Amino acid sequence: MSWLTETLTSTLGRKVIMALTGIFLILFLAVHLTGNLQLLKNDGGEAFNIYAEFMSTNPLIQFVSKGNFFFILLHVLISIFLTRKNRQARPVSYQVAVKSETSTWSSRNMGILGTLIFVFLIIHLKGFWYEMHFGQIPYKNYDGFEARDLYAVVDQAFSQWYWVAVYLVGMLAVAFHLSHGFQSAFQTLGLNHVKYSPAIRFVGLAFAILVPAGFAAIPIMMFFT
Ligand code: HEM
Repeated sequence: MSWLTETLTSTLGRKVIMALTGIFLILFLAVHLTGNLQLLKNDGGEAFNIYAEFMSTNPLIQFVSKGNFFFILLHVLISIFLTRKNRQARPVSYQVAVKSETSTWSSRNMGILGTLIFVFLIIHLKGFWYEMHFGQIPYKNYDGFEARDLYAVVDQAFSQWYWVAVYLVGMLAVAFHLSHGFQSAFQTLGLNHVKYSPAIRFVGLAFAILVPAGFAAIPIMMFFT
């Protein structure tokens, strides 16, 4: 059996893939937030539109984007497999009191949180990504550079309260998912040394609060301005 088949078929190998794809998605979220914060610039969407046009037409970025979609799917499929395997191994669940003493609410609800994020992602990609790649968004000219007005699509969505509500629920799910997932990924990879664990937990918690809060600020501010 090759190392690849062995990794893909063993429980530990699958956990390692969950951790590695999770860390990649964490990095993606940081980059995505940095780009999206340009939506809050008071320039009628110019900086954001130029950025989005570059990201959606640059061949290297498009290659990374395909990897991103692949990693999201791998992360979801392996999590479903591991959950089913855990259920088969322990058909009768622990008592509630024991559960809450040894684990956090987020760690016990990663599946529900992940499902919520997946539903959010489908709504999100249909609303923005699909429009950018397959829709009919009119172009704007910025000093000779032609860029589609994706800002107008986002601005239109966030002028409706229910879109803002969907994003806030989605960001809450991302926050709780990350509050366990970040440090869990490092633990799976064996980086839970007594010296580094508190730092990893602190950075993980800070990331789980600041990044979703940054994302949530976008629909809220666009709704009220
Ligand atoms: C206020 C919050 C957010 C805004 C305004 C936003 C905006 C956008 C826009 C405009 C696109 C299309 C870009 C393009 O195709 O050129 C996009 C793509 C995407 N977004 Fe978001 N996003 C937000 C939050 C999130 C979150 C929290 C996640 C993950 C949980 C996420 C995951 C993605 C993914 C996977 C893509 C496709 C990227 C690719 O082409 O590789 N987004 N987002």
